[in-house]
Amino acid sequence: MLDLLLSNIGLLVTPRGAKARAGQQQGSVSSTARAAVGIEGGKIAYAGPGCAGLAARQTLDCGGALVTPGLVDAHTHLVFGGWRQDEFALRQGGAPYMDVLRAGGGILSTVARTRVAGLGELVARGKGFLGEMLGFGVTTAEAKSGYGLDLENELKQLRAIRELGDQQPVTLVPTFMGAHAVPAEFSGRREAYVALVCDKILPAVAEERLAKFCDVFCEDGAFTVAESRAVLARAAELGMGLKAHADELAAGGGAELAAEMGCVSAEHLIHASDAGIRALAGSGAVAVALPCTSFFLGKPFARARQMVDEGLAVAVATDFNPGSCPCLNLQLAMSLACLRCGLTPAETLTAATLNGAAAIGLASRIGSIEAGKDADIVVWDAPDLDYLFYRLGSNLARTVVKAGAVCADRPAQPNGWRRCGQA
Ligand code: NIG
Ligand code: FE
Repeated sequence: MLDLLLSNIGLLVTPRGAKARAGQQQGSVSSTARAAVGIEGGKIAYAGPGCAGLAARQTLDCGGALVTPGLVDAHTHLVFGGWRQDEFALRQGGAPYMDVLRAGGGILSTVARTRVAGLGELVARGKGFLGEMLGFGVTTAEAKSGYGLDLENELKQLRAIRELGDQQPVTLVPTFMGAHAVPAEFSGRREAYVALVCDKILPAVAEERLAKFCDVFCEDGAFTVAESRAVLARAAELGMGLKAHADELAAGGGAELAAEMGCVSAEHLIHASDAGIRALAGSGAVAVALPCTSFFLGKPFARARQMVDEGLAVAVATDFNPGSCPCLNLQLAMSLACLRCGLTPAETLTAATLNGAAAIGLASRIGSIEAGKDADIVVWDAPDLDYLFYRLGSNLARTVVKAGAVCADRPAQPNGWRRCGQA
């Protein structure tokens, strides 16, 4: 007997497979009208038409709504101290993001606030953010360090991520990002900081098994291609998967480096060159587009349409952080992926589910609604994908199921999609 049956699904939409879907495959999703999903032991046991003959201990009537896999936010800087609303006015006044950092603000001001925060405080804040994310339909998220920038505080951030993974339902994938900025105490001695990351911090992180991936901010004003290569090479030696923040503010060879190093993903890519995009397509890396960051910083949007057309697999994530994207609403990022990056709704769903899962090494376990995968599922206050992305800014997640358990649930919205002029 099933533990839980999702019955009366109006439209079940999901990508299929256990790896990223690239190029033309990204937009080919499975759509089943009048469907059901059966769950047993936290896993999907059945997904398909009807529900005749399916017995379950508990049934959730989806009321004819759209159902998709739980969302995967494959790029966040979830754990940090303080906020940076003081920069809002500065940047409104025209100060560029990197100039704020060069003047000792930006990432470095969050580093100062993260260093004075206790582990418990970071965990409590993170729990609040994750509760909000779950309510938006996010069932798995990546979380980066990079606001400690010394041994003690990088470990503190990663330990906070580990505790958070144990204390609430959203699955967390930890990424070490000690090469996020050169900390103030190493000003003028950047080689010494890169050496500290490679020789002390990375081995300690690996020893405690605190990170699955290592990321670097490869950008003019952060880390050069050569420095980024050194950090990624050391992380690879220590058995970590690789990621790169690449070409966010200017084209600087980040995408090419990510391809060269065999990174599982390259992120941002706003200014990635044509050659960089082609190199990534050849390497099999997932391109992670972060449209809320473009929106918030008033920057161009990553050329996701071109990337898919060139054969890349594109994921969409939030980049939630206190500086360049204080927004943790992945639904908003998905709408922007359609409206500003040129992805279709079907490509966008794949981007925020299966391809997001692939970007964090979990595509064989999550990211689609297929027998054997984890039962991470969202019931939406929407009849179809077009409606989901068209209702810009509203939270349309109604019921969120994580590993077979209903974790977030609210009544259908009073101004819902079925009320007016519909059968
Ligand atoms: O992905 N680019 C680097 N890191 C973050 C921003 C971090 C911050 O401003 O605090 C990003 O945009
Ligand atoms: Fe980021």
